[in-house]
Amino acid sequence: MIRFILNRDLISTTTAPGTTLLDLLRRERNLKGTKEGCREGDCGACTVLVGSRSPDGVQYRSAASCLLPVGDLDGKHLVTIEGLNGDGLSPVQQAIVDEGATQCGFCTPGIVVALTGFLLTSTSLAMEDALAAVEGNICRCTGYTSILRAIERLVASIDTILADPLNRIHTLVEASILPAYFLDMASRLDNIATNESPKTAHETPVPVAGGTDLFVQQADRLQNHALYFLSKDLRLHGIRIEKDTIIIGATTTVEELKGDTRLRERLPAWERALGLVSSTLIRNRATLAGNIINASPIGDLTILLLALNARLTIRGPSGVRCVSLDAFYRGYKQFDLNEGELVTEIRFPCPPLGNRFNFEKVSRREHLDIASVNTAMLVEEVDGYITKARLSAGGVAPSPLFLTRSSAYLSGKPVSIETVMELTQLVDAEIAPIDDVRGTAHYKRSLLRRLVIAHFVECFPRLALEELLP
Ligand SMILES: Cc1cc2nc3c(=O)[nH]c(=O)nc-3n(C[C@H](O)[C@H](O)[C@H](O)COP(=O)(O)OP(=O)(O)OC[C@H]3O[C@@H](n4cnc5c(N)ncnc54)[C@H](O)[C@@H]3O)c2cc1C
Ligand code: FES
Ligand code: FES
Repeated sequence: MIRFILNRDLISTTTAPGTTLLDLLRRERNLKGTKEGCREGDCGACTVLVGSRSPDGVQYRSAASCLLPVGDLDGKHLVTIEGLNGDGLSPVQQAIVDEGATQCGFCTPGIVVALTGFLLTSTSLAMEDALAAVEGNICRCTGYTSILRAIERLVASIDTILADPLNRIHTLVEASILPAYFLDMASRLDNIATNESPKTAHETPVPVAGGTDLFVQQADRLQNHALYFLSKDLRLHGIRIEKDTIIIGATTTVEELKGDTRLRERLPAWERALGLVSSTLIRNRATLAGNIINASPIGDLTILLLALNARLTIRGPSGVRCVSLDAFYRGYKQFDLNEGELVTEIRFPCPPLGNRFNFEKVSRREHLDIASVNTAMLVEEVDGYITKARLSAGGVAPSPLFLTRSSAYLSGKPVSIETVMELTQLVDAEIAPIDDVRGTAHYKRSLLRRLVIAHFVECFPRLALEELLP
């Protein structure tokens, strides 16, 4: 039995835990305001808000219901567009009407829910955050200009909303942005008896973290399969720093990583880099370990972690072991993880102050697209000489690649144009791209060469390398 609050009502369902929420809403609950578009997390038409109990109240995040298994909602508050309706139009809905920002209306519920999510979570309440909230929402009709105007109108009108997100729900209710039933949601969630993640003796359960890979690829197979929802194990979640090591729990989401001030301080390129991963809608669910185990040759997080010299802590039936990420992959989608083992933590040394860190990614569009080629570089420099370097690249080999020889070459070299030019040749000798839908092998070689130069443009502007980037 899975219990959660669906808008105003507590529901208990025996639906298979692997059923996607979108199907439960539309087929079993007749809640048709949540639209079915791509079923791959790409369009935002199915956006909902998931509220989880936190020490301070209830924390809401937007999510794509087409990729969200119902079993992961146990003990949570699920808000659909129907759950945002009050007596009249909310200010979010009114801004859309006033600016003519809806035509066929298919994308509108998702946009309203995503913008309400922005009002619930943004610390700045700035336009930039509002735009980030809808970066995963596609509209086929409006050309976006009217949607942009509606968002500007909304942002200009919210000066009465409290800046402190902890007390935000009260002011959002007062402003008629949320219905009043949100006010006692924390205590209602406390009274829901939840289950342990269900396990069966007959089959090995599939670990589900955010589900943003699993439910794109295998939603039908997983519907009736035994699943192990990792979100139930709070020990797998969170970011901490011990001595000079950053330790990240396996289920920490990409959006949480993006917002972490400690990581942003230590790695100035961090927020921009993580902003290039999918969209807010997907980042709210996608986890760090999920990216590693998906083992895509172009996994953005994996490429970043390779440059940061990450190690994995792995727990299994025969105990706990540690593996360096650069030794983890053995070929296309093959890696050093045995049946029954879980990645529990990812750790890497705190990058020293003054480090140079950069991430580059080329994809066909800025958001919601995986890379053709991506690369990360971490460099330490003393008096014009590189003392340590780690360079990684994706999309140029069967698995995410740590560029061992190229990284070693950089150590001890002067920061100069000659060093960069020689490096690009070494990188070229270390990769083995293939022709595929994301480009020819020749194109990917040429791309990586330019992206390696781009690292030095970003990290060492004094070299004035821009002219090498036609
Ligand atoms: C629309 C869209 C856009 C995307 N854009 C990007 C992008 O720009 N860049 C990018 O890199 N990726 C992208 N992705 C892919 C995906 O979001 C990421 O790979 C994400 O980090 C996967 O994490 P997850 O928690 O959702 O994994 P899940 O789907 O839950 O799991 C993936 C795999 O990892 C296993 N697993 C999960 N956690 C553990 C653990 N702790 N121990 C052992 N096994 C585990 C699961 O069993 C499964 O095999 C995108 C996906 C979508 C749907
Ligand atoms: S249906 Fe397109 S994101 Fe879910
Ligand atoms: S109004 Fe038709 S898809 Fe946006």
